[in-house]
Amino acid sequence: MEQIEQTEPKKKILSLIQPTNTPHLGNYLGAMQNWVKMQEEFDCTYGIADLHSITVRQDPAKLRAQIKESYALLIAVGLDPEKSTLFVQGHNPNHAELSWILSCYTQFGELSRMTQFKDKSAKHPENINAGLFTYPVLMAADILLYQADLVPVGQDQLQHLELARNIVQRFNGIYGDVFTMPEGYITKATAKVMSLQEPTKKMSKSDENPNASVWVLDDRDTIIRKFKRAVTDSESEVCAREGKDGIINLMSIYGAVTGKTLDETESEFKGKGYGEFKLAVGEAVADKLAPMQAEFKRISADKGYIEDCMKKGAEKAFRASRKTLQKVQKKVGFIVF
Ligand code: TRP
Repeated sequence: MEQIEQTEPKKKILSLIQPTNTPHLGNYLGAMQNWVKMQEEFDCTYGIADLHSITVRQDPAKLRAQIKESYALLIAVGLDPEKSTLFVQGHNPNHAELSWILSCYTQFGELSRMTQFKDKSAKHPENINAGLFTYPVLMAADILLYQADLVPVGQDQLQHLELARNIVQRFNGIYGDVFTMPEGYITKATAKVMSLQEPTKKMSKSDENPNASVWVLDDRDTIIRKFKRAVTDSESEVCAREGKDGIINLMSIYGAVTGKTLDETESEFKGKGYGEFKLAVGEAVADKLAPMQAEFKRISADKGYIEDCMKKGAEKAFRASRKTLQKVQKKVGFIVF
């Protein structure tokens, strides 16, 4: 029998990450690993949101280093620059151009309601700049430029995605089908990773306690030390009983990196103490991250390679988004050559 060719185009996925902090274990097990899996099934575009990051004051040299680090990390976790489009937002001028146009189709009132704007302006009262206010418009431009079907985002970005959907509805309502309506893509996290110091709180990039979060580029000794210091309880049994938030968190991290179920972990550590268990979790996490860290080291040492990938990614992103921008320009009445 003849095989029927699959002609349906792959759905488009788009997501950007801010370069302002090294991802932690929760980002890795939740988002980054999923991105790699999605690469086979979808047409993926992943970017480093350098334009977004300067809404908060940054040290230029540090920012430059972080953009490179974040970009290299995308490749190190397993994203293939040939298969997916990996780019730096600021390298594609179409983002800023579309953002301006969309800002004229976004209401002041809508932006005033964004909770992240309210939070960030409360946190930085000395620098409530216009970019911080229009940040969600730029994010809408990122998404709409590529006609993305699906946008993997965390809970904190859902309101921004909803705004992008409102812009699509408004714009398409006036000019016809210009933009694809994007949907949020909430991935099933392998593990919900909680803080090692306050296990009822999610692991966070901005935690002040240096022992609370494990960074994906932490070395082996640091990882093990942080797990050894993880907050547990005054009992001694490794089991997922209610109230044992610290132990449950460790068991779930252990499961995510080893593939073991909670029951399997419980029997593995029956009669053993917390000390032994914590060490095992630390070692398992370090083992899991080691290949990615080695790959990160290898590609970071090759400056030419990263730059080359960035340039190719920028070209790909530019080409993939130019048509949308020109269509929008024509629709609103600009002269386009
Ligand atoms: N605002 C997002 C964040 O802080 C990053 C981001 C920028 C983004 N543009 C995007 C995410 C487009 C998804 C799609 O996490």
